[in-house]
Amino acid sequence: MTNDPAQALPVLHSLSSAVAIRAIYPSNHPRVEEAVDRLVETLQTCLRERGADEVTFLIIDSELLVDQRPTRAHMTNLAALVRTLSANGIERVSLAAGADAEECQRLVGGLTGTGELDSSPHVLLGRIQIEDGDGDSAQEALPRLGSTGLSEDDLDRAEDSFLRFRSDSKGSIEQLDRVLWRFVEGMDKSSRSLLLLSPMKGADQRLFVHSINVSLLTLAQARGLGIEGQALHDIGLAALLHDIGKLSLPMETLHAGQRYTDREWELVKQHPELGAAQLCGLPGAPPLTVVVAYEHHLRWDGLPSFPTPAMPRLPSVASQLTAVADTYDVMIAGRGLAGGVGGKAALEVWEERAGTYLDPFLVGNFLMTLSDVERVGVA
Ligand SMILES: [Fe+2]
Repeated sequence: MTNDPAQALPVLHSLSSAVAIRAIYPSNHPRVEEAVDRLVETLQTCLRERGADEVTFLIIDSELLVDQRPTRAHMTNLAALVRTLSANGIERVSLAAGADAEECQRLVGGLTGTGELDSSPHVLLGRIQIEDGDGDSAQEALPRLGSTGLSEDDLDRAEDSFLRFRSDSKGSIEQLDRVLWRFVEGMDKSSRSLLLLSPMKGADQRLFVHSINVSLLTLAQARGLGIEGQALHDIGLAALLHDIGKLSLPMETLHAGQRYTDREWELVKQHPELGAAQLCGLPGAPPLTVVVAYEHHLRWDGLPSFPTPAMPRLPSVASQLTAVADTYDVMIAGRGLAGGVGGKAALEVWEERAGTYLDPFLVGNFLMTLSDVERVGVA
C-alpha cells in the first residue's frame, strides 16, 4: 500500500469543483451530474491506487491534511473548499469505497446549503462541537461582519484620491495604493460577510462607491482562492481602478446613470480603452491595472462585447474576478434585489451570466466565499 497524499488531491479538486458548480445549478443539471460522476471516479481511482478502503481529510486551523500530512503546496485551488467545510463546522471527511453518485450528490448539496449535511453509509463527516454560553453552533459563532478596514476619514481621503485621478493621476495612484494595503490588512479572514458602501447621490461619488465595492468584492473572491500578499493587493487595486476611464467621459454622460441615449452608450463603451490608456505607463500603476481596465467587459465565452480587441482574447482571471464583482454590485446590489448574494433574484442573474459573460467556476467561488453582503452609509 502506498501512502502518497498527492493521490488524494484529485478527489479534493473534484469535490471543490462539484460544490462550485452545484452552487449555481440545480442538482439535476447535466453539469452537476457530470461533476458528481467525476468525484465518484476520482475517489475510486484514488482508493485503487492507494490500495485502501477509504480516504480521510482533516481540516485543522484552515489547513487541509491527508494522512496527517498538510497539503499546503496545493492549497491555492482548495481554499474555498476548506472555508466551506470550516463554515459548516466540519473537521473530518472520510470517503469510503462504495460511495456512489447519490451519496456524493447529497454531500455536495449539503455543502452548498441546498440539502441536509450529514453522514451517509460511505461518507462520514466529523463535526467540531463548539458551544458557547448560548449554545450557538460553530457556524453561527463565526464573526458576522467583515470590514472595509477604513474609517470614515480614511474613506474621505480615498474619495479625494480617487476623484483627483482626473487632474493628478500619479498622486492619486500613490494614495490609492496605500488604501489597498489598508483593505488587505483590514479584511477579516474568517468572515464570509462583507460590508459595502451604500450608493451616493453625485455621479462621481457613485463611481467611487461602486469602485470601492467592486474592489472589496474582488479581494474577497481572490482571497477565497488562496491569493495573498502583493498579488492580492494588485488585484484589488486593479478592481478599484477598473472603471477609471469613466472619469474621462463628459460629466453629463456620467450623470445619465443607467439611462443612456444611443450616443451616450457609444461613449460609455469607450471607458475600458480610455482607462487602460491612462493607466498604461503611469508610474505606480501595476500592469495588471491596465489589463483589468481594458478587459473587464470582455465575455468569458469569447463572444463579442466591448471593447473589440485587434486580436481575439479571453479576459485574465483578475479581469474575470472583477467582472463577477461588477455584476453583483451593478445588477444585483445596485437594484436592491432582495435575498442577498445567493438569493433567488441573484441566482437568476448568476444562472444567466455564468458560462456566458462570467466564468461559472468563479461565480461558484463567489457564492461559496460570500454568504452575506451588507451595505453601510458613508458620511
Ligand atoms: Fe466598466
